[in-house]
Amino acid sequence: MAKIGAAQTPPTLPTPAQGVRWTTPIVETPGIVVLGSWIWRLVRFLVTLPFRFPVLVATVTVSFAAWWWLGWPGLAGLWATASVASLVWWRTSPDSYRTWVTLRLLAWWRHVFVYRRHWQPVLVISGLAESYQERRYLPRIRRVTCSEWADRVRVALVAGTSPADFETRVAELAHGFGAPSCRVEVEGPRKITLEFPRRDTLAEPLPALDLPDRVDLAALPVGACEDGSAWRLRLHGTHVLVAGVTGSGKGSVIWSAVRAMLPAIDSGTAQVWAIDPKRMELSYGRTLFAQYADTGEAAVAVLETAVERMQDRAERYAGKQRSHTPTVDDPFVLVVLDEVAFLTAYHPDRDIRKRSENAIATLTSQGRSVGFAVLAALQDPRKEVMNLRNLFPDKVALRLDEASQVDMILGEGSRDRGANAHLIDPTLPGVGYVRMEGSPAPVRVRAAYVSDDDITTMTDAYGPDSPPGGAEW
Ligand SMILES: Nc1ncnc2c1ncn2[C@@H]1O[C@H](COP(=O)(O)OP(=O)(O)O)[C@@H](O)[C@H]1O
Ligand SMILES: [Mg+2]
Repeated sequence: MAKIGAAQTPPTLPTPAQGVRWTTPIVETPGIVVLGSWIWRLVRFLVTLPFRFPVLVATVTVSFAAWWWLGWPGLAGLWATASVASLVWWRTSPDSYRTWVTLRLLAWWRHVFVYRRHWQPVLVISGLAESYQERRYLPRIRRVTCSEWADRVRVALVAGTSPADFETRVAELAHGFGAPSCRVEVEGPRKITLEFPRRDTLAEPLPALDLPDRVDLAALPVGACEDGSAWRLRLHGTHVLVAGVTGSGKGSVIWSAVRAMLPAIDSGTAQVWAIDPKRMELSYGRTLFAQYADTGEAAVAVLETAVERMQDRAERYAGKQRSHTPTVDDPFVLVVLDEVAFLTAYHPDRDIRKRSENAIATLTSQGRSVGFAVLAALQDPRKEVMNLRNLFPDKVALRLDEASQVDMILGEGSRDRGANAHLIDPTLPGVGYVRMEGSPAPVRVRAAYVSDDDITTMTDAYGPDSPPGGAEW
């Protein structure tokens, strides 16, 4: 770009035959405009300063005010008070003080030496900024904060770009700033936050969770999210498909859900009907289930009974009731199907395959509002194997074989938004990605591990022979 006010040398053009020379007209920027532009920049810098460095500006202003009105003793008094206050904080709550100071220093360090330093090259190379010359088209870092496990970089977007542009470049951003992943949160118009984990919070297995006092079938605690919050799974009013290769930990999602439902099973307001074609996963806790099947014929019988009950209930509700509240007379019924493709695709008997597929399709398409839900586990999400996939509104992607399977499970664009289920470390069973209600960004989660001993404790306390209320728990 030409410098404002700089005189320009006319280009030397080849002299035409007639000897006429053409020169570029020289237009000088008036001095008053140059001055105005500098004053404007200075004013803008001073006005935005308190927003960019609030703590620094506040400290300087208050110190100056103390000196102005009270002189040097006033300033010394102020600093002494501040030192005593931070000393008291340090003595009374050393952990919170240390965390606060460490995280502030870390944020400053990461801001300067990681994000600001690599910002322009990473954004230009990943295609999120135009070029090295045009800084005004570069998205701006507004603030960097650090939590215990992640950096959060608040960014002001350039007009004409959208958060989706960043969502599709999360792999490049994560790589560019040396983080294992990157998540984009939309904050408001032209404002986003990029979250870069510094360590894997889900690296350690999570032991089976404590039972909730009150069971909320729309938010059962089954594990943890990457940010440390609880992963809550909705079962009432939806159907859930859990996909993952052998050993990816599908069993832990199923068992964590059953475990979280135990008080409701005990009080009779919820039932689990289990189908276990491999006879591996669910047989161990079969006394907890109202119905159990492990052969093809028995499985179809259970599924068809579920369809019948569901239709009876729908008929009773018709014209009177539009939604279901779990009661002892009308309990919530969860049909758990482990290795569902065994029934719908691999069973040698064509009749069994067809009937089970029909029953699953009927349950998933009509069961939601009358208190019937299906929780199914699946290894291979390809269409040929599972063409009922789209009947499940909620899905969990544990470790998958191929990158192309991610979008099959979590929906179009999920892999671009960072759901790298095909890259999950095989040593981390139970880790996966889910999409929470109302947000397109996938969330990394880990299911709690319910061990065989835990299942034994559960059957002892809540099986048919135990006293009501799980007294032996
Ligand atoms: N959430 C989890 N946390 C830790 N380890 C797990 C978890 N889920 C499963 N595992 C381990 O991985 C093994 C395989 O899990 P499993 O649920 O049987 O996989 P899948 O049903 O997907 O084949 C289990 O035996 C257990 O040792
Ligand atoms: Mg299994």
